Amino acid sequence: MKRILFPLAAAAFLALTALSAPADDGSANSNAPNLEERTVTLNNGAVMPTVGLGTALQSNEETAESVYVALKNGYRLLDTAGIYGNEVGVGQGLKRAIAEGIVKREDVFITTKLWPDHFNIESVDESLKRLDVEYVDLLLLHWPFGDNVQGYKVLEQALAEGKTRTIGLSNFSQETIEDLLKQFKTKPAVVQLETHIFNQQNEMREYLKKYGAFVMSWYPFGGRDNVKLVLENETVVKIAKAHNKSVAQVVLRWHLQSGFVVIPGASNPDYIKENIDIFDFELSEEEMAQIRALNQDKAFYDLRRGR
Ligand SMILES: NC(=O)c1ccc[n+]([C@@H]2O[C@H](COP(=O)([O-])OP(=O)(O)OC[C@H]3O[C@@H](n4cnc5c(N)ncnc54)[C@H](OP(=O)(O)O)[C@@H]3O)[C@@H](O)[C@H]2O)c1
Repeated sequence: MKRILFPLAAAAFLALTALSAPADDGSANSNAPNLEERTVTLNNGAVMPTVGLGTALQSNEETAESVYVALKNGYRLLDTAGIYGNEVGVGQGLKRAIAEGIVKREDVFITTKLWPDHFNIESVDESLKRLDVEYVDLLLLHWPFGDNVQGYKVLEQALAEGKTRTIGLSNFSQETIEDLLKQFKTKPAVVQLETHIFNQQNEMREYLKKYGAFVMSWYPFGGRDNVKLVLENETVVKIAKAHNKSVAQVVLRWHLQSGFVVIPGASNPDYIKENIDIFDFELSEEEMAQIRALNQDKAFYDLRRGR
């Protein structure tokens, strides 16, 4: 299993795509996922699936297989990043699924991210080349530790040049977003944030409503090192038993019913299938409240670990 080492310097730091004009005032977005359609409508009118495949820490070979299995099992949203080193694998998995008639390119919503020292248009072109696609559906600035103004200009340029259909941010604070947006017309459609039962991002979710932006939850299981902490929590274990679903499925369903888009990372094919099989049950208001009560605003990701 390939581990991606995030540079310490920087640490100092889905046929569902319909696309239209750049984002403006966010009024197009009701901020409510459509659980039946399994989509959200973004603030530029684009339609994005609510559940996607996360690919962090997977090699190109693993990613190609995971992406293929995911697409075969109904996923239409894929998450990668330049720094993951696996955009080639995403492209290969996609191409295999296209060759077998499982999907067309336009059915799949691809997200990639620019690392802080790659906030330039050449890096967008390199990502497209590695993915072997003409455009991505969502381009994010990965962390706010570069020249963020330059980075956002690159996002707008990529949008204007058709290299991405939607833009957004990742791991930016409310203050940094507010400061940045004073200078730019296009609003982010999505902000990726570490979000799970112990870190529920209530403030950010409310704040982003003013831009019609969605939170895309990364680390829904707390990340590889904390899966047990999340999936063995007695509250969610009890709820899972009551629904005859797995704890992972209950956790992911909580994300959806809370208004998040979620991108669980998985390479195990059984997990990949399990993680999208979350549309045949509903958590009651009482169960949602029990899970809400687990919030500690506790993030697991530690930048000082360097990955
Ligand atoms: N924007 C950012 O800065 C950022 C940061 C981190 C992650 N991300 C994105 O978010 C995605 C999700 O985060 P993550 O992958 O790091 O962590 P995660 O989704 O919280 O957890 C992944 C771990 O959970 C396991 N798992 C998956 N499904 C399971 C199931 N049904 N039952 C039990 N275990 C299960 C996986 O096992 P197997 O691997 O063995 O299948 C893997 O060990 C990433 O893949 C990446 O695309 C973004």
